[in-house]
Amino acid sequence: MKETRTTGGSYWIETAPGTAYPPLNTDTEADAVVLGAGIAGLSTAWELARAGRSVVVLEAGRIARGVSGHTTAKLTALHTFACDRLLRTRGSEAAHLYARSQTDAVEHAAHIVDELGIDCDWERVPAYTYLRDASRTAELRAEAEAARSAGLPAEFVPETGLPYAVAGAVRLADQAQFHPRKYLLALADDLRAHGGRIYEHTTAVGLDEGEPCRVTTETGATVTAHDVVVATHYPVFDRALLFTRLATHRELAVAAPIPADRDPQGMYITPELNTRSVRTAPYEDGRRLLIVTGESFNPGAQDTPARFDLLTDWAQQHFPGITITHRWAAQDTDPTDQVPLVGHLHARASHAYVATGFGGWGMSGGIMAGRLLTALITDDRLPWSDLYDPTRILSTVRQAPAFLHHQANVARHFVGDRLRPPQAKDVADIEPGSGAVVRIDGERCAVYRDERGEAHVLSARCTHLGCLVAFNSAEHTWECPCHGSRFDTDGKVVQGPATRPLGRRKV
Ligand code: FES
Repeated sequence: MKETRTTGGSYWIETAPGTAYPPLNTDTEADAVVLGAGIAGLSTAWELARAGRSVVVLEAGRIARGVSGHTTAKLTALHTFACDRLLRTRGSEAAHLYARSQTDAVEHAAHIVDELGIDCDWERVPAYTYLRDASRTAELRAEAEAARSAGLPAEFVPETGLPYAVAGAVRLADQAQFHPRKYLLALADDLRAHGGRIYEHTTAVGLDEGEPCRVTTETGATVTAHDVVVATHYPVFDRALLFTRLATHRELAVAAPIPADRDPQGMYITPELNTRSVRTAPYEDGRRLLIVTGESFNPGAQDTPARFDLLTDWAQQHFPGITITHRWAAQDTDPTDQVPLVGHLHARASHAYVATGFGGWGMSGGIMAGRLLTALITDDRLPWSDLYDPTRILSTVRQAPAFLHHQANVARHFVGDRLRPPQAKDVADIEPGSGAVVRIDGERCAVYRDERGEAHVLSARCTHLGCLVAFNSAEHTWECPCHGSRFDTDGKVVQGPATRPLGRRKV
């Protein structure tokens, strides 16, 4: 790994206070219970509380520290090539509703920041989708045209504020960037001021969709509520087999201070080079913090340190002289038709709802989900409710290849990983501070040796649906390649859809 003077953590988590909400230890009741306290869950809870509902939020870890604490925090309706893709796959009305709903989310966030006076480094900047390959500029012109016909004031531009040449870009003015944790912690405070109750370190393990619904937690305490919202990034209660339509990818971020006069003044993304995204944020001494993300890959990949090197190299080549001070990783879920799944949890659900599949656009998506779900729960409908309805079927044959590709990938891991030789022959072969899958007494075990050499031995079988986990040596986590569950070196769930820890094993 290159010398980077890294802190190893998310800038958003380092620069906002921690939280210490209590776990839920006794049975309770509410109008609605929201599972998951990232941007989708907290936005939904906040909207419901503002609509006069009593709300309980259950978070398995700490609020706004999961995916929402590791995002790039761009709030925009320009989602790479989404308008053109939607226009081609679902028609002009779908593209129009998508653009409208995402714009509504950006403006709604601006309104909330203003109304609550939230100090969250809110900045209005343009968003760009760019390409450097001149043979692909037709794609940019098509997106600019599709976005315009969908109602966005987008334009094709030959230049940007980036310090390197591009072949062209789609530009959408007046979008926003912010500090996601400062925003969400303020939202949580206001939620509580309106009677909402937040419980941390409280994992939901059971859902009874009766009338009323009942959520059971790991400790046995229950929440009885009229409505349940599953906003756990990847849904933990998946009664519509949404996992068959959701692929997972991880992405890396590196950050470095730059002088204010080198700020490229915008939020940029290109799908080239396995994705590169650039934005800045206010930093110390009047400088800006350059945040570069990219290197999209499947959870469980073995080469995360090398990918961090690639991203660091790219950042230092394109912004010469920088020293990386922070790095972190995020995880996104991608629906096979690339439209988020927000609405009823399954076709027969009356009071259970889900919000998931935001791809890399969870900030506007999460705020949009809060508005949409609150409308459904309060017997209203937004014009774009059907667009995001999770019970929609794959709408055109165009999406079938993505669906089949995802299933083939899962099957390849489920079967293929079992046929592959274990990564290490013996526990003694594993270096201290590293992990590998080892066969012990006929069972594949996930073995981590800590810095003192002590072995932490777990079942390598993911508790979601049984694929084999692999070790991420950059983040020291066990990751499942099938649907992205992540576990710490003691087996505790870091990220779902798994809700149960990896089983402990004795050597
Ligand atoms: Fe589904 Fe592991 S996350 S099997």
